[in-house]
Amino acid sequence: MSKALDNLRLYAGVLKRVGYTLTVGMLNSGSRDELLKLYNSYNGQQPSGDSTPVDPFIIPKTDVFELFGGDSAAYEGVYECGFGHTTEFELKVISNLVKKWNPRRIFEIGTFEGRTTLNMALNSDTDTEIVTLDLPAEELASTKMEIEEGEVRYVKKEVSGGRFIGHPAASKIRQVFGDSASFDFEEYRNSVDVAFIDGSHAYEYVLNDSEKVFTIIRKGGLIIWHDYTNWPGVWTALNELYERDARFRGIRHIGGTSIAILTV
Ligand SMILES: C[S@@+](CC[C@H](N)C(=O)[O-])C[C@H]1O[C@@H](n2cnc3c(N)ncnc32)[C@H](O)[C@@H]1O
Repeated sequence: MSKALDNLRLYAGVLKRVGYTLTVGMLNSGSRDELLKLYNSYNGQQPSGDSTPVDPFIIPKTDVFELFGGDSAAYEGVYECGFGHTTEFELKVISNLVKKWNPRRIFEIGTFEGRTTLNMALNSDTDTEIVTLDLPAEELASTKMEIEEGEVRYVKKEVSGGRFIGHPAASKIRQVFGDSASFDFEEYRNSVDVAFIDGSHAYEYVLNDSEKVFTIIRKGGLIIWHDYTNWPGVWTALNELYERDARFRGIRHIGGTSIAILTV
């Protein structure tokens, strides 16, 4: 029954998304990228009936960090990304931002597999603490606000933070669990140098998480949002904050990524 409900939620979410992508979303580069990915995945399918998508891109990858040098960041699992992860380039951008900010404490909302958490750990000092908050699957039905149907699959996972569990850098990482709308952030007030907001992409949650992060970020700290160009809830909330709230007027979208940043 719950599987059927999950499927129903998934179909409803996809339908909503497709409706958007094929109408007003056409004006948005993130949506066009999504269509291209979909197109490529269909065209890369095996003709035999095996529906496993085949990656048609066999040419080895490089990027501006490699081409122009000067990149001293360390990476792990940078090319092992699919849905729900930051892209390779975004992971490099975030790693370099972390290196530049040299934070004592990082706070991430939305752990998922912990790929970005691990790379933030690899690019910060040995005594930096990385706190990462994740919504346990069991709390999915009792969140304070409604999360998007399309993100249920990122909440429902066997392990949260699997990419760093057992890794030597994991000693710097503290996993905390709960719903970001009811989580008590008081312990972290004014103590965070870099915050990464990548939990629920629903409008209300992005507003909630941005507000909560504002209470824990230090003056001079950096707030990073993921998925600005990928989820309507994220761009609607961030646009609104940018236009209506003087505290957020300094937000900048990093071109070529879905990342938005603000130096507080
Ligand atoms: C897109 S994934 C995060 C990806 C991860 N930050 C990375 O860069 O690899 C979103 C994560 O947010 C978590 N999440 C969703 N709603 C949440 C909430 N209300 N409170 C805390 N975490 C939430 C999900 O469980 C999921 O692990």
